[in-house]
Amino acid sequence: MTRWPGRLILVGAGKMGGAMALGWLEGGLAPSSLTILEPNPSEGIMALADSRGVALNPRKPAPPDVLVLAVKPQSLDGAAPKIAALANRQALILSIVAGKTIANLKARLPEASAVVRAMPNTPAAIGRGVTAAFANPDVTAEQRRWGERLFGVLGAFHWLDDEAAIDAVTAISGSGPAYVFAFTEALAAAAEKLGLPAELAMSLARGTVEGAGELMRRESATSPAILRRNVTSPGGTTAAALAVLQGDGGLDGLIERATAAAHARAAEMAG
Ligand SMILES: NC(=O)c1ccc[n+]([C@@H]2O[C@H](COP(=O)([O-])OP(=O)(O)OC[C@H]3O[C@@H](n4cnc5c(N)ncnc54)[C@H](OP(=O)(O)O)[C@@H]3O)[C@@H](O)[C@H]2O)c1
Repeated sequence: MTRWPGRLILVGAGKMGGAMALGWLEGGLAPSSLTILEPNPSEGIMALADSRGVALNPRKPAPPDVLVLAVKPQSLDGAAPKIAALANRQALILSIVAGKTIANLKARLPEASAVVRAMPNTPAAIGRGVTAAFANPDVTAEQRRWGERLFGVLGAFHWLDDEAAIDAVTAISGSGPAYVFAFTEALAAAAEKLGLPAELAMSLARGTVEGAGELMRRESATSPAILRRNVTSPGGTTAAALAVLQGDGGLDGLIERATAAAHARAAEMAG
């Protein structure tokens, strides 16, 4: 099993940073190894610091083995000058800051050398996320293993061979949870059109999406296409709906156009 890094500094302990800190401590990171820099710590983060002895906003933190950047993109201008001295040549920089390229991060942190840029998604907050990351050539084998361990607490993790693929990941899994929520809303609206009361409509739609997702997780050896065929009798009701969903102007083309728009926007915002 990979060792944890000896000294880790988390910059930004909001939704994602806070979830990571909790996951690391629960996964066995020694509290004395962790320092959190966060100007407005939530009650949860303050309690974590108090109860476990995690350093919170020390005046002069020592340079870490790993510096994790989890601030909003718009907060990076303010944060970078304060942490530049911590981002030295020995440190691994792990960034989840959306849209900020490695070149952009290195321009703000001039001493930085090894950088991993990652894109998680919101279910990461409950340990069920999907994260993909790109490591620049300065990242060592041990640092890659640290990355796998630190992001592993968020759920599934994949390495990318090309930094530009982050924009595609953003369009699929980064923004993807919102597509599933939008599908659930549409299913509930359709249920109301078929005459069901609003509360029941939403309950049926949510339960269906949750159950189908869980079934897909448990039956991971079975492809979604087979799972679909397993519940589609020829000439039946599901087949009638799928003929529309998978016909001309159906789901495939719609999802392709939607993700292409997200991809184009991610590329536009990258800097
Ligand atoms: N949430 C997601 O699903 C998701 C998915 C993929 C990527 N990301 C990326 O993850 C990053 C964090 O997102 P989030 O949802 O966790 O945001 P968030 O909840 O707003 O957390 C960011 C935290 O950073 C703090 N902060 C601001 N300036 C700082 C500084 N100078 N030093 C240290 N901390 C500072 C913020 O404090 P204030 O509130 O006082 O500003 C806030 O508590 C973003 O870059 C986002 O693009 C998030």
